[in-house]
Amino acid sequence: MDNTEFETVADVVPLYPNSSQLDDIFAELELSLPFVEDNSWGNLLRFTDNLTDPIHRWFLFKEGYSYKLVDKILDRFKLPRNSSAILDPFSGSGTTLLAAQKRGIPSVGLEINPFAVFLGRIKTQWHRIDPEILEKELLLVLQDNKNTPAKLPDLSTLHKKKYFPNGHAYELLRLRNAILHRECSQEIKDILLLALLASIEDVCCLHKDGRLLRFFPRDIIPPKEAMFNRTKIIIEDLVDWVKADSNQENFLPQTHVIEGDSRHLDSILDKHKISHQFGLILYSPPYPNNFDYSEIYKCELWFGGFINSYQEWRNLRLRTFRSHPSCSFPETHYLKDNVDLREIYQLVEKLAKCPDIGEPESKARSRAPKVIRGYFDDVYLMLQQQKLRLEHGGYIVCVVGNSRHGNLHIRADTIIAKIGQEIGLNLVEISVARHRHSRSQQVQKLRESLVIFQKNS
Ligand SMILES: C[S@@+](CC[C@H](N)C(=O)[O-])C[C@H]1O[C@@H](n2cnc3c(N)ncnc32)[C@H](O)[C@@H]1O
Repeated sequence: MDNTEFETVADVVPLYPNSSQLDDIFAELELSLPFVEDNSWGNLLRFTDNLTDPIHRWFLFKEGYSYKLVDKILDRFKLPRNSSAILDPFSGSGTTLLAAQKRGIPSVGLEINPFAVFLGRIKTQWHRIDPEILEKELLLVLQDNKNTPAKLPDLSTLHKKKYFPNGHAYELLRLRNAILHRECSQEIKDILLLALLASIEDVCCLHKDGRLLRFFPRDIIPPKEAMFNRTKIIIEDLVDWVKADSNQENFLPQTHVIEGDSRHLDSILDKHKISHQFGLILYSPPYPNNFDYSEIYKCELWFGGFINSYQEWRNLRLRTFRSHPSCSFPETHYLKDNVDLREIYQLVEKLAKCPDIGEPESKARSRAPKVIRGYFDDVYLMLQQQKLRLEHGGYIVCVVGNSRHGNLHIRADTIIAKIGQEIGLNLVEISVARHRHSRSQQVQKLRESLVIFQKNS
């Protein structure tokens, strides 16, 4: 009898493990990895400490970590040489760079979002701002009633009165125009613009909630008052710092914040004539959790004039790490095409094809596989680039969180650790800093970890 007649569907369609079988596969894999539980890092993964620390507090960047994390890492891992510099290839609000600057260590940040680049640059160039001139210019901007804007930026969110009641969107724009028309230095204009952008959350009914801006009706204050309050905090910090040591500017280490895609780190640094390697590469990349930073910071991007059209906004999205499904990214096959990474590729495929990824026909189900494949291809690229720029004996510390898609648990820390090992980095440890509750009862708690590598000395 010809057996092929009795071939079942299971024979022709490969079956992929469900989420609980994947839990077992990962549990076994993780037995061979240097996991340590260390909750002393836990609170340092939040931005909270920065809200009360000079300069760090100028803008609430919710997804940032504490400057104390940088201090703790520098205390624990010795840089290979006295002259070693620090690199943050996802510099966000500039926490790593400012913390490094305060310790006298030179640093470089790379960031794709132009608003975040602006923020990081201003915070690390605080010494160029004269607080007396800033105070004088603030008052002139607040008194300027001439610069009425003709038209709001196109972003539809800014046109909704429910989100920006009492004409607050127009008032914000009027203040922005008043800043642009002042005849003062670029540094003063920039810091005033930052104060204005930091005020957005005080004057509208939108709230940054995970990956979304949500409608959140509440008491809000007028833009002028918000801008006044925000600038006063900046002035207070500048006065305190200047008072602390008027000579410190001469001793500040070099700090660069570069706009660019960290998957092309090496050539971007070359273009900026930065030829050296780094003793510590410390960062938190986007997590594979659907966060799109160009969406979360869209009001700042459009009000700040960093984005002026939907096309520009889309182009920015296309350059971001593939951690979200908000645009149709080109497909790549880096893991697939590399024989040394075959095992990891197969693991990632098991995740992408897991039947528990979401309800059949749901959006999550159709989008998540692309996010998973794109994300780990990007991880491979970023680690490869970082290895090129890491000094012998230097460390990479990657702060990352696991995530959930449907009932599927994506252990980003484990896969990042495996990719790093495969490309020749020594895996020092995976330090589990905290366990977050997942909304789903069926998925284990999600870890946030520090994946720590070292390059051979
Ligand atoms: C978790 S945040 C970093 C926060 C930062 N550690 C801090 O304390 O402010 C991740 C950052 O990666 C940036 N990013 C996304 N894709 C990028 C890319 N391809 N190259 C460089 N930066 C990127 C995002 O814009 C975001 O600011």
